[in-house]
Amino acid sequence: MGLGNNERRMLRAMLSEPSKDWSLEELLSETGWGDQVHVAGSGAALEDAGLVSVIENRVTVVTLGEEGEKASKDGLLEARIWDWLVSQKPEDRTMSTLSSTLERHEAGPGVGLLKALGISLESGTLVADDESQITTVIGNRSAFIDSLSNGPKEKSELDEEMVSHFSGRKELIMLEEKVSRSWALTKKGKKTNASELEDVEMIGEVTPELLQSEAWRDAEFKPFDVNAPAPTPSGGRPHPMIALIEMIRSIFLEMGFSEIEGDFIQSAGWNMDSLFIPQSHPARTMQDTFYLSEPAQVDVDEHYLDLWRKVHEHGHDTGSKGWGLDFDKEESKRSLLRTHTTVNTVRHIAENPHEPSRVFGIGRVFRQESIDRTHLPEFYQIEGIIHEPEANLPMLISTLKTFYSKMGFPDVRVRPAYFPYTEPSVEVDVLWKGEWLELGGSGIFRPEVTEPLGTEWPVCAWGLGLERLAMLILGLDDIRELYQPDLERLDRMPIL
Ligand code: PHE
Repeated sequence: MGLGNNERRMLRAMLSEPSKDWSLEELLSETGWGDQVHVAGSGAALEDAGLVSVIENRVTVVTLGEEGEKASKDGLLEARIWDWLVSQKPEDRTMSTLSSTLERHEAGPGVGLLKALGISLESGTLVADDESQITTVIGNRSAFIDSLSNGPKEKSELDEEMVSHFSGRKELIMLEEKVSRSWALTKKGKKTNASELEDVEMIGEVTPELLQSEAWRDAEFKPFDVNAPAPTPSGGRPHPMIALIEMIRSIFLEMGFSEIEGDFIQSAGWNMDSLFIPQSHPARTMQDTFYLSEPAQVDVDEHYLDLWRKVHEHGHDTGSKGWGLDFDKEESKRSLLRTHTTVNTVRHIAENPHEPSRVFGIGRVFRQESIDRTHLPEFYQIEGIIHEPEANLPMLISTLKTFYSKMGFPDVRVRPAYFPYTEPSVEVDVLWKGEWLELGGSGIFRPEVTEPLGTEWPVCAWGLGLERLAMLILGLDDIRELYQPDLERLDRMPIL
């Protein structure tokens, strides 16, 4: 028999009295189930199997309304008036003394009720026609209300006249339609053999072991509902920024670039002087750059300090006039947190001046910025160079276009720009929802930069922002959202 254990249990329970019409309560107690969903679920399955019929009974249930609850505590209004009336001497049964014993709003309805009971006003006092009959009527009404005070009753069990009387009064009783179910065995159900209804071992999971053991041939399988609602699994996943960095890394690797790295802590010499940024440049002040106090200086090779001094002061033999300012080697040795990853690419050239190279790096940089919707004091740059004899501007531009189109931004444009270390210098924009957004800087390193590094080849160089790109891809308009540890929001971000 293809029945599950719950259905078997319910059938066994019903076979204890095969002809009975079972209520929910009876089935719960006979099966020992704590939850009515088992009865409903198994009952439906047994009905499908033709073993049980489910009978729906519609009943009208009567409960006390708000006024009814009050009446069951304090007594019905007519009962209170009647008690008062019979305790007074006939000549004291006046409207004004009655009114003083009632709440204001009760006086009007009270008089109406009295009239209907056969009490009238005769020369200023209240007179009843038939006291014993009134006592009986009021007694019956009070008993009716009392009988409902222990909970709802089915309408069919109650006195019809009382129900219709109280239905006409405000908020004393409420009538409600309810559906109750009962379960009965069908002919076929009654014929089931109880000995076939033992619990069976049912298999909920098909494993390789089960399939190999051949035991599946005689096994009973747990039915399952493929439409049942299930929680959406939210397993672990890489942080979107990590995933994005991975993606960028594989694009550059695919394009034939090698990855380089560098330290966060650098000298002002390598971070700025090597790039021909004048020592008086505003970006070199404490307001813009994080200088370290410990160690306040780092060693820089004298060879480079000498060359940078010459280039900065008069251009050395680069053909440039330099900045024409005194160069301070002590300033060069000051330690700082790198303000761009261009420091990594120039150091790479200095270490490999005679080897053509195409390298990239994705690294964190630091600038004194106040945090807002578009700024953070720490952020990432995507840096790269092409250092080879034939390097040129079109090569630079097509490399950047290739990179961005692989990232999903086929429309790229470049605009003339200025950086102290490149000539020409170009800014790179991508088209996003009809708008050009600036994502980075690039250019060809000036001779003032390359000559001290020991190379005569041109260098295509770029430094692109990562966070702005991430915001476009992830659909964010506040840069801070990228780094807030809000698991729910992170879970909703697209998987790259
Ligand atoms: N270093 C520049 C920046 O931080 C970007 C850049 C890199 C520009 C290389 C030109 C060449 O914005």
